[in-house]
Amino acid sequence: MADKQETSKLFKYKGFNFISNVHDEKFLDTLENFEIHESDICSVTYPKSGTVWMQYILSLMFYSDEVTGEKAKMTTEVCPWIEVYTKKFDYNKFPSQRLFVSHLPWDLIPDGLRKRGKVIYLARNPKDVAVSYYHFHKYIACLESEENFDTFLDRFLEGNVFGSSWFDHIKDWYSHKDQFDFLFLTYEEMKKDLRSTIVKISNFVGKKLEDKTIDMIVEKGTFKRMQNNPIANYKSLCKIHLNSSEGTFLRKGTVGDWKNIFTVAQNEKFDAIYQKKMEDFGLDLVWEISE
Ligand code: A3P
Repeated sequence: MADKQETSKLFKYKGFNFISNVHDEKFLDTLENFEIHESDICSVTYPKSGTVWMQYILSLMFYSDEVTGEKAKMTTEVCPWIEVYTKKFDYNKFPSQRLFVSHLPWDLIPDGLRKRGKVIYLARNPKDVAVSYYHFHKYIACLESEENFDTFLDRFLEGNVFGSSWFDHIKDWYSHKDQFDFLFLTYEEMKKDLRSTIVKISNFVGKKLEDKTIDMIVEKGTFKRMQNNPIANYKSLCKIHLNSSEGTFLRKGTVGDWKNIFTVAQNEKFDAIYQKKMEDFGLDLVWEISE
């Protein structure tokens, strides 16, 4: 293990892994009854699936003036984490179109989302998620990193990370999707055709966008633009928690990076577990695209 200050511990809350210093059990207790409004939009992801990307796209869609220009707010202020307690936020004073992001599993999400509001679930192929998460554990100083990808991959496959099992997260959400006003999207389709995905989102949330607004979101939402944008790239978000020499939040932003790190043996092991866990789950994920 790398020697790091202030290493956080994973802790289980109702069977799901959270991170000490980031999540607070007492606050989690309040979430079930968190009041959801008719117009609320919550984007749900397993970690490393493009959360920050969706957060910025939604922020641009609804509050472009607030997240651009000299006095721009951080995307986390415009589209906060539903499960992270933030003293300065009074969600009742937020504008009527509230935006949230969340990594919560389907059973811990505020109950009100089953009756009102909308959920956008963004999934990413789990091999790229595992690679992204491995690098992320080195980058985020408070997370316990692994010496090598092999041991991290085992940890990931066992669900011994924040967010627990990727398999459970996606299967549970997807199999309960009819309980919610639900849109399922993938990171890979955003990569392939961001414009069409933005149109899909705008139709789902009932937000009419002019062509020039869509063009603006597509342009600002590219990996390169976001990587260099302090409002969107998370670099200043938690400076004390970062090992900035070990990477960035927006690392590569590609589909199929797993091919650069997985060994043949790791790939075979992954495929065998994937097949077993996902056999009844008719979902075709994209594992690579030519860019
Ligand atoms: P990589 O580590 O593979 O580069 P999350 O926000 O859920 O933590 O996901 C982070 C992953 O999304 C990172 O993947 C990051 O680079 C990628 N990402 C963020 N913004 C992106 C964008 N505009 N285009 C493509 N990928 C993006």
